[in-house]
Amino acid sequence: MTRAAVISGLGGWLPPRMVTNGDLPAELGTSDHWIRTRTGITRRHYAAPGSATSDLAVEAGARALASSGEPQVDAVVLATTTPDRICPATAPEVATRLGLTGAAAFDMNAACTGFLYGLACAAGLIATGVADRVLLIGAETYSSILDPRDRGTAPIFGDGAGAVVLRAGTPDEPGAVGHIDLGSDGDGAGLIAVGGGGSRQRLSGRPELEGERYLTMSGREVFKHAVTRMADSCRTVLKRAGRDVADIDRIVAHQANIRILHQLADELGVDRYRVVANIDRVGNTAAASVPLALLHGVADGALRPGQRTLLTAFGAGLTWGSTLLTWPDLALRD
Ligand code: UT7
Repeated sequence: MTRAAVISGLGGWLPPRMVTNGDLPAELGTSDHWIRTRTGITRRHYAAPGSATSDLAVEAGARALASSGEPQVDAVVLATTTPDRICPATAPEVATRLGLTGAAAFDMNAACTGFLYGLACAAGLIATGVADRVLLIGAETYSSILDPRDRGTAPIFGDGAGAVVLRAGTPDEPGAVGHIDLGSDGDGAGLIAVGGGGSRQRLSGRPELEGERYLTMSGREVFKHAVTRMADSCRTVLKRAGRDVADIDRIVAHQANIRILHQLADELGVDRYRVVANIDRVGNTAAASVPLALLHGVADGALRPGQRTLLTAFGAGLTWGSTLLTWPDLALRD
């Protein structure tokens, strides 16, 4: 029988510093009312100065390992757009700090879709027998790339980390990752981007070009892509699985905007209450978004064992991806 990747542990971590809409600087020219009604966000968390994505990833990874009861894994996949540094990858250091020295470890950059790409990667490692157990972490420190003067991004994004452990199992088990759809469209590369710092546009260090190290986003255009790409991807997964939207109990989607979540539900013809949402308390945490939504959904009682659940995400690249699984019964650890 085919080896499936089965979710056996879940954990997450938010840095303690919480920033409410009212805490944002007045110079940003925004308001609590605008942010709440246009995005659904009321607060987000920022990593303390001096702390990095690896610090968040270690906290989330440790909780996922404790939740699974697995002391060891064979591979660590870190989905992130904000690694500690360009080279080397952050995952090996995270693995070592978790006591997993020797495990395969690498970073994956698919922006806000990173967790879905990571699930596909973990499923592949397990299906081919390269690994029996994989720790998949989505961790981000977007506060390090936000322009504090850009009201189109600064109120939207937050820091955080979420993680799952996957083990080899069978496709019919609760928690088994089912059909996966992944996609990309590089024509939209400029719609969400950090312009400088890579090999194309090297950092000049000139003060008047300081903006080159910040994230920019064409919000309105990205919004439309987010709804249509996630909806199409969900339909593709349902079709491959021989399922219909009527079979779906919950949708756990990338948390970019509450209006996107509602439009996604409407587009698919799924009742809005079936969409798990935690964007109010975390904002957009990019690759950490889906695992944190899973964690908060379980903690809130919105996501329960046995529910047939669609996971879907969309992000910079452009990238998107979806999968279908039956939510398993997991023990959460603080
Ligand atoms: O995670 C990766 C994927 N990312 C996404 O999916 C994000 C998708 N985009 C969005 O969520 C929304 O586009 C935003 C929340 C980023 C922006 O909301 P919007 O409703 O699309 O606003 P907009 O950019 O169309 O701007 C509408 C108006 C503009 O004013 P005028 O030109 O109509 O006078 C903006 O200047 O709202 C203004 N505005 C703001 N006002 C107060 C934009 N941002 C703000 C703000 N506070 N923070």
